[in-house]
Amino acid sequence: MSREERIKAPRGTFDVLGEQAGVRSILEGRARSILEGAGYERIETPVLEATELFARGVGSSTDIVQKEMFSLDDGGGRSLTLRPEGTAPICRAYVEHGMHKRKQPVKLWYLSSFFRHERAQAGRYRQFWQVGAEALGSEDPAVDAESIVLLSALLEEMGVRGVRLRLSSLGSGESRSEYRERLQVYLRAHEASLSEEVRGRIELNPLRAFDSDHEGTKRIMENAPRLLDFLSLEDAEHFAQVRDLLEVAKVPYEVDQTLVRGLDYYTRTVFEFTSDALGAQSGVGGGGRYDGLVEKIKSPATPPTFGTMIKSPPTPGMGWAAGIERILLAGDPPPVAVSPIDLFVALDTPGTSSRRAAFGLLAEARSAGLTAQMELAGRSLKGQLGYANVLGARYVAIVGKDETGLKDMQGGGQERLATDTVIHAVLRGLRTL
Ligand code: HAM
Repeated sequence: MSREERIKAPRGTFDVLGEQAGVRSILEGRARSILEGAGYERIETPVLEATELFARGVGSSTDIVQKEMFSLDDGGGRSLTLRPEGTAPICRAYVEHGMHKRKQPVKLWYLSSFFRHERAQAGRYRQFWQVGAEALGSEDPAVDAESIVLLSALLEEMGVRGVRLRLSSLGSGESRSEYRERLQVYLRAHEASLSEEVRGRIELNPLRAFDSDHEGTKRIMENAPRLLDFLSLEDAEHFAQVRDLLEVAKVPYEVDQTLVRGLDYYTRTVFEFTSDALGAQSGVGGGGRYDGLVEKIKSPATPPTFGTMIKSPPTPGMGWAAGIERILLAGDPPPVAVSPIDLFVALDTPGTSSRRAAFGLLAEARSAGLTAQMELAGRSLKGQLGYANVLGARYVAIVGKDETGLKDMQGGGQERLATDTVIHAVLRGLRTL
């Protein structure tokens, strides 16, 4: 087969192996200990979801929904999509499993792979991994601050370099609509200087103009009305409390009024951690509050101001997700520790009978709670001892016809034993370590 014909992983995807797999397990362990220590419970949702979930949840005017979803027909005329993000699926699961009946807030975390049809480059892939945390059912500003502090702790533990936290509030309800209208008026007045993309989004998603790389747009946005000036008293108070709690926790941040996120569900707090160690894709992790998302997923038609007809109060939510690949690119993770094994079972001479005896010894070792491996590649005895050394085996059992040699790889001694007493001897040896 020529080089060109060789089948490779699709563009923007990659295999995780060797040391990379080890570093990822360290990250997962750290995330588990930080998040479960704070009462977050692990959740796994399906890789495939109804396309409608993201159109409704993430927003039909976003890049994710317009250009980046991998969608397919399920064979019955229903469109399914490989999840591009985790928040909408978790809100769906919250509703589907009646989690509003649990003690609130319900705190959930995940570490899963996600899919976006993006132009692949360093730090930007088509299949990537996120660690994320969502807290549903409370609008307390302490939920916002705690969530941000937990991500800050994870980035610190993973040694992410040059971290900056940008923070803002998008407000909610009427103040937000009023701001949107003011911004639309401003953008229309400067339409000629804006990029075509921004012009096309004035009606649907005017805030995204702050995110544009287009020089003309950037100049116009310098003097655009700022959302924080339009916050209602309640929203301004909520934002002030989130900031105050971050100060209590000594997490430095910058208020950035131009911060916009690529998803439509945000209300009130939004934030993003960036790292100087990353190039163009500097966002390591981000998130915010999404107080209307659960309702939108439950029933898209529910008008926002239904007054007395709403039976249950809306479910507020707050969370974040961070890219595993970006954390690792920008981080300095602790070295992967090799886990040594207790016993390597070697074969004195090749052949079926020694293999049977060795296999029995391996099973016995594992039942006794030892970590053990046996020779599987037909190496010479010298080769087997070398391999046991690479594995960091504490003992090597060299299984012979009638008896077994037990070699202490640390102490250097070797004794000859009846095969059925070997495990006992290893256990005794390990206990006296
Ligand atoms: P997001 O900002 O779209 O937010 O993604 C979160 C993080 O995932 C980014 O900061 C980045 O590190 C990583 N990421 C995104 N796209 C890619 C890609 N193509 N390749 C590599 N890494 C990528 C969300 O997904 C929201 N669900 C976050 C959230 C949770 N908001 C509230 N709760």
